[in-house]
This record gives sequence, C-alpha cells and structure tokens, in this order.
Amino acid sequence: MATDNNRFAAIISHCKEYGFIFPSSEIYDGLGAVYDYGQWGSELKKNIKDHWWQSMTRMYENIVGIDAAIFMHPTTWKASGHVDNFSDPMIDNRDSNKRYRVDHLIEAKADELEKSGDIMASENLLKEMDTLLATNDFQGLKQLLENHKIVCAVSGTGNWTDIRQFNLMFSTQMGSISDDAETIYLRPETAQGIFVNFLNVQKTGRLKIPFGIAQIGKAFRNEIVARQFIFRMREFEQMEMQFFIRPGTQMKWYEYWKAERMKWHLDLGISSDKYRFHDHVKLAHYADAACDIEYNFPFGFKEVEGIHSRTDFDLRSHQEWSKKKLQYFDNDVDDNGKPYGNYIPYVVETSIGLDRTVMLLLSEAYEEQDLSSDDKKDSRVVLKFPIKFAPIKLAILPLMKKDGLPDIARSIMDDCKIHFKCFYEEKDTIGKRYRRMDAIGTPFCVTVDHQTKEDNTVTIRQRDSMQQERISVGSIKDFILEYINKS
Ligand code: GAP
Repeated sequence: MATDNNRFAAIISHCKEYGFIFPSSEIYDGLGAVYDYGQWGSELKKNIKDHWWQSMTRMYENIVGIDAAIFMHPTTWKASGHVDNFSDPMIDNRDSNKRYRVDHLIEAKADELEKSGDIMASENLLKEMDTLLATNDFQGLKQLLENHKIVCAVSGTGNWTDIRQFNLMFSTQMGSISDDAETIYLRPETAQGIFVNFLNVQKTGRLKIPFGIAQIGKAFRNEIVARQFIFRMREFEQMEMQFFIRPGTQMKWYEYWKAERMKWHLDLGISSDKYRFHDHVKLAHYADAACDIEYNFPFGFKEVEGIHSRTDFDLRSHQEWSKKKLQYFDNDVDDNGKPYGNYIPYVVETSIGLDRTVMLLLSEAYEEQDLSSDDKKDSRVVLKFPIKFAPIKLAILPLMKKDGLPDIARSIMDDCKIHFKCFYEEKDTIGKRYRRMDAIGTPFCVTVDHQTKEDNTVTIRQRDSMQQERISVGSIKDFILEYINKS
C-alpha cells in the first residue's frame, strides 16, 4: 500500500517536473481539482484523442464524429434529468469541517473489509449502500455510517451533519443585461450534444440504424470531493459514443460494446489482470443496464470507462420537452415481414474519460530503474509509453556543438519533423540528454557524431532496451515510421 502511494506521489511530481501536468493557475496557489497540461502532457493527450477518434470513426464504418458546443439551451438539462437528478449525497464532519461524498466513505470501508479478508461483509455493505442510494434514504445511509463506525480521517470522529444532496452542475449567466440574462449550465457530459443533434446527423449523413455518433470534448462537474490528481477533476474531457439501435436489441448491443471496449483497452498492450468489469446495481435515472471498465491505478481498481444502456430515455425526453419529433423511420421488416416503421431509437453509450486514460497510461509507463554496476551507482526514470502515444517520437542529438555536427542534425530534423514529433537538443552531455528523453518517454534518440561525417550513419538508441545500433542517415525516417505503424 505504502509503495503504491509513493509511486502515485512520484508520478504526480514527475508530471510536474517534466512538463506533463501542472496545477491550474499555480502562481495563485492553484484551483481545486483543475489542472493544466504542459508541453508533453498535451502531446500525450492529443495522441490518445487521435487514437480513440480513429478507432471509433474509422474502424467502425457506421460511426461518425461531431463537435457540439459546450453551452446548450438550458431546457436540455431539464429534459436530460440533470437539473433534478445529477447530485451526490454529501456530509460534513462537524469537528474537522471536512466534506465527504457519503458513497465514497462507505466504499472506503468496504475496501478495508475486503483487504482484511472479509469479502462477504464488504459485498453486503456495498449492496446495502446501493439500495439506500437508489431510494434516497439518507437516514438509512447515516445509520450505516454509525453501524460501521465510519469516521472522518482528519478528526477521527463520527460527529456527522445530516446528509444533503448537492447538484454537480456549474451554472453561469448568458446575456449582458442582468434582467434578461438566462441561467445556463456548463455541460456535465458531452452526450447531450449528441442527442439533440441526433436527427441532424442521421438525416444529413443518411445513416441507417444501427449507427453511432462520437464526440470528444470538455465536461464540467462541481465534484464534492475532488481528489487523486487528474482522476477526479472539476473540468475534464470525455470521449463518448452513442450507438442508436432498434428497441428490444439493447442487451445484444450492450454486450457487444462491453466486449469491443475491453478489447480496445487490451490492444493498448496492457495486461488483462489490470482490468475488470464492475456491473452497476444502482442504475442512473436513464439506464436499464450499466457497467464500468475499471483499471488497477496505483490507488486501486477505479472506473476509467462506463458502458450504459440508456434506453430511449434521452431522445424521448427531448422529444417531449422540445415538442420536436425525434424519431427514425425504419423501412426494414421483422421476421414476420412486418415493417418496423417509426420509432424512437434506443441507445447504448460508451463513455471514457480522457484524463483518466492519461492517468492510466502514466501509471503503466512509469518505471524507476536501478542501473548500478559494481563500480558505479546509476538509475533512471523511464516512461515506457507505447510508441503511438509518446509525446516525442525522435530526439536528434549532435554529440558536440561544433565540427558541423549540428548542421547534419538539423537536416535530419528537417527531413523527419513533418512525419512525426521530433526534438532537437545540443546542450549537456549525451548521457544527460538520454536520461531527459527517457523521463518523457521518447522511444528513439539519434546521435550525430564524427563517424557520421565519414560514413553517413548515426547511432540510434532505443528507450526501453537502451541498446544502440548504427543506421544510415537516409533510413532514419522509415525506421521510426515502421515502429509507429506497428505500435
Ligand atoms: N455520458 C455518461 C457519463 O457521463 P459517467 O460515468 O458519469 O457517464 C463517464 O462519466 C466517464 O467520464 C467516466 O468513466 C470517467 O472516466 C470520466 N469522468 C467522470 N467524471 C470525471 C471527473 N470528475 N474527472 C475526470 N474524469 C471523469
């Protein structure tokens, strides 16, 4: 446990030291649970986005992508149920004034029971919690805290306030004159931008059911307790896909997308024991089945992606509130030859957090290695990203700043930079430069030395094995491209 905590702390500080992720507006002491991506973090994040976008909108011929606005008509959130239902139960400890999400307190207790070997007690506690949450039984939940002697980690007491619901949406005013201004919300999920555009996209794209609409974008939630670095943020990004299907086929498609999305995760090169499904007992107001794909982060198994069978809840509700028909005409026939005709499609969605995927890849990639030999102490931190996600693919390093070596290195840079992200550096010893590139996960470094002038070859060093070989200057670009295409 302590080791995992240390590892997590080490990853956070590494992210800051090497330009991946900074606390937002840090010069003003930061803003709770808001983070900025630095030069290498934003490259990493963009590579993940590109990969997801390509896997969804290219590999599936019946999925298209859109980019809807963050601001939406306020009635959207009435129709979606977020104004009335998008809240978490919170509680304060009177002695420490610390605020908690009640379900998080209970889950932590269940984790403790599981670790102590009492798996039955842990499962029962979670079941009891789910039932009480489903019926908004706050008295019952408070009793559960008391029965299990759940106390505040800071004060050590169980001196709790009553439990209250807290809506997680951020609101703001649209319009310059305050009397006319209208309260609007920052979207808490990207999905609604897809639902309100369902007919626009279906008609203009001449799409036939089943088909999907994908989107990547920012979402905002005023999380009660925002913790664990970029795992739970107040401003974050989602990569969502809504798959529109015939009513009655939702369980088939739900199982299909569960399998497809798990395959996507495993194709990242991550071993299957790092993942598990968590089937929901307590379902959101819109779902008839739901599960999470959980990844074993340094702080334990936690949700990285949700797969939800959303029925026709969203389209039906938008149809009612907007008074616009949101239906699909299906001219296929069923087994009895009867046309399906008009209906409101059902939806299965896959929703993965982009920032959680960044966190997942960092957790996988981060490695501290002891490279000491008998006569020398040595170590390195290396980020072993899959090549397609690495912020920089190739570092180009002239051994010295003289004898024409920088000119040769510059011309390699000019040849390669249009094809993939390159980085040129001539400062410090070659050993220090290699270590810096290891620390940001650069899979290849080429060194231009005096031999380059004689035989037009360079040393190419691989990040993971640290092995070096000589290849010709003319083959560098294809050498790297081959690895990128394989990754
Ligand atoms: N449209 C469905 C939906 O939004 P969700 O389970 O609330 O479902 C989907 O969110 C994903 O968004 C989660 O699996 C998680 O990866 C990510 N996510 C949710 N809240 C987040 C937060 N506060 N910070 C970072 N990522 C978050």
